[in-house]
Amino acid sequence: MISKCTFSEVFLLYVFSAWYWFVEFINRIFWLKSGLSGQVFLRCEGRTALITGGTSGIGYETVKKLLSFGMNVIIGSKSTAEENERCLQLLRSLYPKCKVEIWYVDLASMDSVKSFAEKYVLSGLPLHVLINNAGIMFAPFELTKDGFESHLAVNYLSHCLLTKLLLPRIKQSGSEKCKARIVNVSSCLHFLGEVDFADLHSLMGYCPHQSYEQSKLCQVMFTRTLNRYLKNSGCPVLVNCIHPGIIYSNLYQYVWWAKYVGPIFLQKPDKGAEVAVYAALSAKLETVGGKYIEEFSVTPSSKYSKDATLQTRLWNETWKMLQPWLEEVDDMPEEI
Ligand SMILES: NC(=O)c1ccc[n+]([C@@H]2O[C@H](COP(=O)([O-])OP(=O)(O)OC[C@H]3O[C@@H](n4cnc5c(N)ncnc54)[C@H](OP(=O)(O)O)[C@@H]3O)[C@@H](O)[C@H]2O)c1
Repeated sequence: MISKCTFSEVFLLYVFSAWYWFVEFINRIFWLKSGLSGQVFLRCEGRTALITGGTSGIGYETVKKLLSFGMNVIIGSKSTAEENERCLQLLRSLYPKCKVEIWYVDLASMDSVKSFAEKYVLSGLPLHVLINNAGIMFAPFELTKDGFESHLAVNYLSHCLLTKLLLPRIKQSGSEKCKARIVNVSSCLHFLGEVDFADLHSLMGYCPHQSYEQSKLCQVMFTRTLNRYLKNSGCPVLVNCIHPGIIYSNLYQYVWWAKYVGPIFLQKPDKGAEVAVYAALSAKLETVGGKYIEEFSVTPSSKYSKDATLQTRLWNETWKMLQPWLEEVDDMPEEI
């Protein structure tokens, strides 16, 4: 595979990330943006949330917070049965009365995503909050068995498919008084991304940074288009995306230096979870949709992500790629 990474791109990536980390650090030490304390939340007891990648990192900490608010939580995970059992035991020891389950899903396989969504629909559970959190970063080149580049598949396409298959249930669960919410966990690195429509799956050359940035940019663009569509059709559902912060987690497994500096200098996953919970439950956001949220405030996303022509092109390409898994669902238009 030909490498598409250039020195200047990699340099820019590190300077950009370091700047973000520095600004976050200053915000936190001076309490400029101070977390969830003082926030007002929607009534949560008995409501149901579904989160992907909820057994580790930001996802796991988000699950803890949702359970502490009295929500019922379903976690989508590809971990082994033993790992899941350990995770459940830990959660139940922290929140003895909690209702939490872990269901298997491999987001690299669209068949698996479809089975997972079907299981959810058959369960009859409502779905008030969907958090599309799971992700991989800077992984070596790999095409999934469906022929998709792995970042695009795991971070973006799987979550589009999941959202679409669950949308009827999400719509039923929202009301004008208390809208259902979809939170896409994107990244500040979307600012460095562009969508390579001519080579979405990096068949002509690969750069892990570009593929990650592209997948996170796609999430931002999808957030905007989906929210616009739902708003125009009068559905009681809000869609937003977030940058959770620069958080030390397993996500950095392909970044060689992270294990040396991460534990000391980067934020802990519970900080990232605060941003996810804010987007999912803050009363302040009850009329906010189609936005990009950083550090507890709505922030402009990249200029590229706001281009309506590119958003439509991506939307149409996305459903074309996912067509084999969509036959009977026509709850959302595949061309706009
Ligand atoms: N950490 C940061 O600095 C940062 C910054 C910006 C954005 N984000 C975003 O935040 C989200 C969470 O990241 P994190 O830092 O919490 O990373 P993490 O600790 O590595 O968690 C990622 C989760 O995704 C799951 N996952 C990965 N591939 C999967 C697949 N094929 N099928 C099902 N689940 C899969 C992992 O499951 P396994 O454990 O079973 O692999 C894990 O639970 C990601 O979308 C990431 O892009 C993170």
